[in-house]
Amino acid sequence: MPAVFITATGTDIGKTFVTAGLARYLRAHNRKVAVLKPVVSGFDIAALAGSDSAVLLESVGQRPDLGAIESISPWRFTAPLSPDMAGRLEGEAIDFPGLVAFCRAAIDKTGDVLLIEGIGGLMVPFTANKTVLDLIEALRIPSILVAGTYVGTLSHTLTAMDVMARRGVNPAALVLNETAGSAASIAETVVSLRHFCDPVPILSIAREGTGNPADINAASFGKIADLVLTA
Ligand SMILES: Nc1ncnc2c1ncn2[C@@H]1O[C@H](COP(=O)(O)OP(=O)(O)O)[C@@H](O)[C@H]1O
Ligand SMILES: [Mg+2]
Repeated sequence: MPAVFITATGTDIGKTFVTAGLARYLRAHNRKVAVLKPVVSGFDIAALAGSDSAVLLESVGQRPDLGAIESISPWRFTAPLSPDMAGRLEGEAIDFPGLVAFCRAAIDKTGDVLLIEGIGGLMVPFTANKTVLDLIEALRIPSILVAGTYVGTLSHTLTAMDVMARRGVNPAALVLNETAGSAASIAETVVSLRHFCDPVPILSIAREGTGNPADINAASFGKIADLVLTA
């Protein structure tokens, strides 16, 4: 029962896009996929359809009604802030052991593949002393680090890769999700990162709406699936 944790170098980098794309690819290849987005912030009950939880549920063919969202996303904050900040403001601090136990229970009962989307970047705090990285470390499941190709990503990506290596939780793959309108190409970004990221494989996803990324992305999701499901 493979489970994979999807994190990123920051917020809005493409975790949901990559998780949903991977889920669709796997389902098209006859895998049964479940999704979790255990902690959400900026949650607006009047706009369920736009939420990460809804996008993920749709990618696995489930209707994104409130009940389904509540079951995959038990920690929901209204404020569009980090979970620790939102928790302080809303008087609902996350119980970190409870969060680990929730993910662990889902991993244990997964029949086939479980994809867990983190929140924000790798070291966004859940509580006063626990971050997303601590959750990855506690769960001990393969992870994907999603990074952009914007100018500035090299330092952000290598910082994240370095801290993961120090904790002994190298990602199964670094996925470069193309940033719209970047002066830096995917290929040159890979060249700059390659040496520093060794032995972690670097894969890339093309930006949709530029050329014909559908086929390229299907091939990329295939490679990501091969890497993470055998990690
Ligand atoms: N490769 C891509 N092509 C087109 N749009 C993308 C791509 N990656 C991300 N996006 C869009 O960029 C926005 C941020 O991506 P998202 O996956 O929500 O980031 P995160 O989950 O890391 O916060 C979303 O609107 C998403 O649909
Ligand atoms: Mg997201």
